[in-house]
Amino acid sequence: MESIPPTQTLQIGDVAPVFQARSTKGAVSLTDYRGNWLVLFSHPADFTPVCTSEFVAIAEQQKRFDAMDCALLAISVDSLFAHYGWIKAIRDHIGVEVGFPIIEDPSQVICRAYGMISDRSQDASAMRSSFYIDPNGVIRAITSYPATIGRSVDEMVRIVAALQRVDKGDALTPEGWLPGQSILLPPPVDPASFQASATDPLWFYRLRDDKK
Ligand code: BEZ
Repeated sequence: MESIPPTQTLQIGDVAPVFQARSTKGAVSLTDYRGNWLVLFSHPADFTPVCTSEFVAIAEQQKRFDAMDCALLAISVDSLFAHYGWIKAIRDHIGVEVGFPIIEDPSQVICRAYGMISDRSQDASAMRSSFYIDPNGVIRAITSYPATIGRSVDEMVRIVAALQRVDKGDALTPEGWLPGQSILLPPPVDPASFQASATDPLWFYRLRDDKK
């Protein structure tokens, strides 16, 4: 794998560091995903309960991400051989096919570059970090959960849908927004549009039907 230059903590708006790595679906490069949305998500360890529950749920619901042209890419510090064994066990004993690639990162180079492993952690296992990366390779959202708490597939799908809706323009997404629900108009910032909206007492909270 090509080494990633040391970075400061990655934040929303940064270009996602490019890497190449081995995965359960062959060699992958982050650049393969340019032009597509991508959720790059880490898990602490293969063959563990919460991680298995997440993989089963994400694999079962992969079509929801496909429908948004959003690829999935999992990563942990476990070896490729551990990944193969784990997805075989999930297939054989739970009956779920894990259709997305799982990257190996035994050197921890990728997980550390992405801040998936805490600098202060006593061990090398990654947190449950999820990076939402847009078609230009820019990090648009980041979530981080501890090993003990599984992510919600509904929330992962919702984040992608909200980012895609905002990118269509003229909208912010309110709390708990789901596709088809009302959006918020961006606040008026230039003097002319501020003046135009001044008669509306709720100029700062313009909830509207979503026309797009
Ligand atoms: C789990 O996925 O269940 C797990 C992973 C690492 C530490 C604790 C729990």
